[in-house]
Amino acid sequence: MRLIVNKKIKFFMSKCYHLLNNERNFSSSARGIILGIETSCDDTGCAIVDTEGNVLGEALHSQHLIHLNNGGIIPPIAQDLHRKNIENVVSEAVNAANIHFREIDAIATTVKPGLPLSLKIGTTYGKYLCRLHKKPFIPIHHMEAHALTARMHDKSIEFPFLVLLISGGHCLLAVAKKVDKFLLLGEGKDDAPGEAFDKLARRMKLKNIPEYSQLCGGQAIEKAALKADDPLRYKFTIPLLQYKDCNFSFSGIKNQLLLQLFSEEKEENVPPDGVIPGVSNLCAGLQLVMTRHLCHRVQRGMEYVARKGIIPPNKQTLVVSGGAACNNFIATGLQMVCDELGYKMVRPPPKLCTDNGVMIAWNGVERWKENIGVFEDFEHIDIEKCSPLGERLIEEVTNESISCKWVKLSKLNLPQSRWNTTD
Ligand code: KG4
Ligand code: ZN
Repeated sequence: MRLIVNKKIKFFMSKCYHLLNNERNFSSSARGIILGIETSCDDTGCAIVDTEGNVLGEALHSQHLIHLNNGGIIPPIAQDLHRKNIENVVSEAVNAANIHFREIDAIATTVKPGLPLSLKIGTTYGKYLCRLHKKPFIPIHHMEAHALTARMHDKSIEFPFLVLLISGGHCLLAVAKKVDKFLLLGEGKDDAPGEAFDKLARRMKLKNIPEYSQLCGGQAIEKAALKADDPLRYKFTIPLLQYKDCNFSFSGIKNQLLLQLFSEEKEENVPPDGVIPGVSNLCAGLQLVMTRHLCHRVQRGMEYVARKGIIPPNKQTLVVSGGAACNNFIATGLQMVCDELGYKMVRPPPKLCTDNGVMIAWNGVERWKENIGVFEDFEHIDIEKCSPLGERLIEEVTNESISCKWVKLSKLNLPQSRWNTTD
């Protein structure tokens, strides 16, 4: 009897909760089709994904080349381009899915974190579609979407898992416990890795070398580093070695490289639009120190979750995502750490690592299935420029003061042309 009463009370409370929060009450057994919209930075993306993880249609308009020529993202220009393209991108995805709006169950849209002017376009348009077609709205956290996409790509990934997100705007290490529950172990203290790559590629003038002229900073540096014959010629100090936490910092590396670049340009009499002769080795040195830093923080994170029993030893997975996760050199270093500590590493394909509509639609699917944050009445939901992901465990991690015996990454010191011969 007591049990039944408790159940009834629970049911009533849950009803009240959903009503109070204007959330839809939804049975998780039904199949759903979610449309996702992404406009948090410089990509206008849309996709339609079903609850099985089938991508029914997708479209992406990248502003990359325009911002590359402007020397960086100018927010009002990004906003104008989103405004100009959003309707076409959504129509293209809907047409590709060969679907009518009445078949779509809900519309998921990135509302945080990101460039406010960019977020505004997607959010306004997503809500407009919801009103027009009488659909519920699923507000999405951009970093949650980066983290969860891996579960669409690899259905075997179960909660909890460790996730490293490295993008143009963020750097964080977290444990994903549930769709909407993350434990934040470490965060970026200054420049994000992609941001550091972009700024340094610009300063090294890689754009003036024809084969790199159309690439984003990270891609250009990765490609240039492949040509290095002496990756240890420029040595950089690994950041935060004395701090026993899982936080990240890339601005010190950036300054070390800039000093090296200034002196080399002067010594070699490099013209204003010229590139230093040792640029490939410089890129390799940069990639190496960034990889070592990332590997250190991830290894400490793994040791922390093992010490605290947060992830069962037989289910250890590291998901690596965000734009800079496309970098194969970084992935090689992280894979070595995973191999040593008994982790399976999952990295979604490049087009799912960088910003796209699929990840937003999939995050919508994950929330739809669990009936978390699906709003019939959504006018009160606003965009947010900054939004931390999950519960902060950063102080707890620091207090553990974990000293690690670093996994040896000796292979990374060799020119990549020699990797296969030494494997
Ligand atoms: O996730 P994303 O598409 O956008 C943000 O949410 O920031 O990431 C874009 C970033 C850019 O800074 C770009 O330089 C970096 O991802 N990126 C790379 C590579 N491809 C893209 N960084 C390193 N290596 C790459 N291959
Ligand atoms: Zn992103």
